Amino acid sequence: MKQINLYETIFKRKSMRRYDLTPLNKNTLAEISAYMRTLKPIDDNITTEMKILSQKDVKNLPTLKAPHYIAVFSENKEGYLTNAGFMLQQMDLFFSANDIGSCWIGMTKPTEKTLSTSKLEFVILLAFGKPIEIESLYRESTSEFNRKSLEQISNITNANELLEPAGLAPSSGNNQPWFFTGGDGIIHAYCVKSITIMYKRMHMIDMGIAMCHLWIAAKHFGKKVEFINDIAAQNNPPEGYYYIVSLNVK
Ligand SMILES: Cc1cc2nc3c(=O)[nH]c(=O)nc-3n(C[C@H](O)[C@H](O)[C@H](O)COP(=O)(O)O)c2cc1C
Repeated sequence: MKQINLYETIFKRKSMRRYDLTPLNKNTLAEISAYMRTLKPIDDNITTEMKILSQKDVKNLPTLKAPHYIAVFSENKEGYLTNAGFMLQQMDLFFSANDIGSCWIGMTKPTEKTLSTSKLEFVILLAFGKPIEIESLYRESTSEFNRKSLEQISNITNANELLEPAGLAPSSGNNQPWFFTGGDGIIHAYCVKSITIMYKRMHMIDMGIAMCHLWIAAKHFGKKVEFINDIAAQNNPPEGYYYIVSLNVK
């Protein structure tokens, strides 16, 4: 596999739902496993585990059949869903950068037998495999992304180079539950309040995905980045939103 530029991949990736069901070869799977061990968390105090599964290890797949899946398991701790989203999005971009298709799957889960192989809580799946047509793997321009405008996702006016990649992040049902405030070296991330527990869970994963894009963009522009919990930002959420985390960008 080629070396990766995750930043560039942000501007062309898309979800892949039609796969060549032939399994990837052993070398490719070994390289994927090796990369999986290098993923960065938001919070390294949260224990996580990732497993590569095949179709037989996953329940009810009427529409989205892929040769492989990554299942993320995590310790259930403050911020664990966002942390898992952050980590697994690094894999989504890694796949795309290497001409492998992938798609987040929130609608199903591993079989009971597979679930019992981890002591940690199952969080989410990412399907992956060779696309049926390689052309269908990428978008040609950002105009092909169906996303909210920057004004809809933030009131920061001088950080478009970070906010645009965050806004291109995939999210469950393309809901884009994020809003960003701050500026001058700090970005506070908020999540829209959800009606159901299921939505809330998915939105927290989505927030980690957007934070991953923000973090990759900040690093791309040579910034020193650090995740922090900002009490003032936490106590002042925009109406209808709640606080997730802040990114110090210096
Ligand atoms: C947490 C999460 C769960 C998702 N679950 C599903 C799913 O169950 N089935 C599906 O077809 N797509 C699923 N998606 C993919 C989204 O529908 C997709 O990312 C969104 O529509 C934006 O499109 P794009 O990824 O092509 O940019 C999920 C995405 C996320 C982030």
